[in-house]
Amino acid sequence: MEYRNMGKTGLQLSVLSFGSWVSFHKQIDDRSADELMGIAYDNGINFFDNAEVYALGESEKMMGRVLKMKNWDRTSYTVSSKAFWGWRGKENKPNQHGLSRKHLIEACHEALLRLQLDYLDLYFCHRPDKNTPIEETVWTMHNLIQQGKILYWGTSEWSGVEIMEAHRVAHQYGLIGPSVEQPQYNLLERNKMENEFLMVFKTVGMGTTIWSPLASGLLSGKYNAGIPEGSRFAIEGFDWLKDRWMKENFLEKINKLSLLAKNLEISVAQLSIAWCIKNPNVTTAILGATRKEQLQENLKALEAADKLTHEVMKQIDDIVQSKPVLPEY
Ligand SMILES: NC(=O)c1ccc[n+]([C@@H]2O[C@H](COP(=O)([O-])OP(=O)(O)OC[C@H]3O[C@@H](n4cnc5c(N)ncnc54)[C@H](OP(=O)(O)O)[C@@H]3O)[C@@H](O)[C@H]2O)c1
Repeated sequence: MEYRNMGKTGLQLSVLSFGSWVSFHKQIDDRSADELMGIAYDNGINFFDNAEVYALGESEKMMGRVLKMKNWDRTSYTVSSKAFWGWRGKENKPNQHGLSRKHLIEACHEALLRLQLDYLDLYFCHRPDKNTPIEETVWTMHNLIQQGKILYWGTSEWSGVEIMEAHRVAHQYGLIGPSVEQPQYNLLERNKMENEFLMVFKTVGMGTTIWSPLASGLLSGKYNAGIPEGSRFAIEGFDWLKDRWMKENFLEKINKLSLLAKNLEISVAQLSIAWCIKNPNVTTAILGATRKEQLQENLKALEAADKLTHEVMKQIDDIVQSKPVLPEY
């Protein structure tokens, strides 16, 4: 396993990590979660990603049960939670969501109870909150760090401007600013990582724990012949994901990527994940899996990365045609 410093911090994360969105509680039970987290940990993964909203709190409870059973040395791994949507779904009342001091602190306490942990290594603001002054959010995160309840804080799907506003406030009051962002990043979604955030990386520095490296499984090629039973796009309530990704031009590109991967003697999933971690601004790519075969295949993306030479990277760009166009000079 390779480990990378998270932005300008001293924290080292494995370049591949493991997350629980959709899968935990909705698709897999404690036994499978135990097996998958065991494989991840035994292969050097040291970061497990979670959020209050995943399966409305049940995902954190499941991860907490597994961590308790595993009894791994707490200093050997890191765990995150994210707050914004709350965990009560349609029952959410005012103050049970958002990035106010009240919700961030209560959500942190609730996540710790569900995960059965004393502190979170990473705590993310899952989305920007247009109704809370940024000063309130930055002060709250700083104070949670001072109290030892979280070690680092970050953002998810914030714009570059919003992240810089948080830094401006942190600088103004001498507070600890965000050190990590969790954006979507894959072969079909590149703008934030390869355009919008470039100046943030250069100036204040920022780690990234990127999500959906396979575009929810699409980049494994599994959807090229329709929607397999039991797969994520077949789950009730996830039609929006299907609508987002099941597009003729994406599937055509994946066919071409599959041929390229075959020539390199790797799978298109491995090619797609390896491509993500070739970007040095990626601290870690969070993997998702519902079966051990998927995780075992995806972990081999580490070795596959060696096959993505400059020439291969160019061939990939020519196929996907998704590279952001930056001004020339
Ligand atoms: N911050 C955010 O807003 C945000 C949003 C989304 C996700 N995340 C985080 O990022 C993590 C990863 O995202 P993701 O789950 O969307 O990642 P992904 O890698 O794009 O998709 C993972 C899913 O694809 C399928 N799959 C994976 N490997 C496969 C393989 N080799 N062959 C065939 N199918 C394969 C599995 O689903 P099926 O078996 O069901 O088809 C698996 O659960 C999440 O768990 C979560 O922690 C964060």
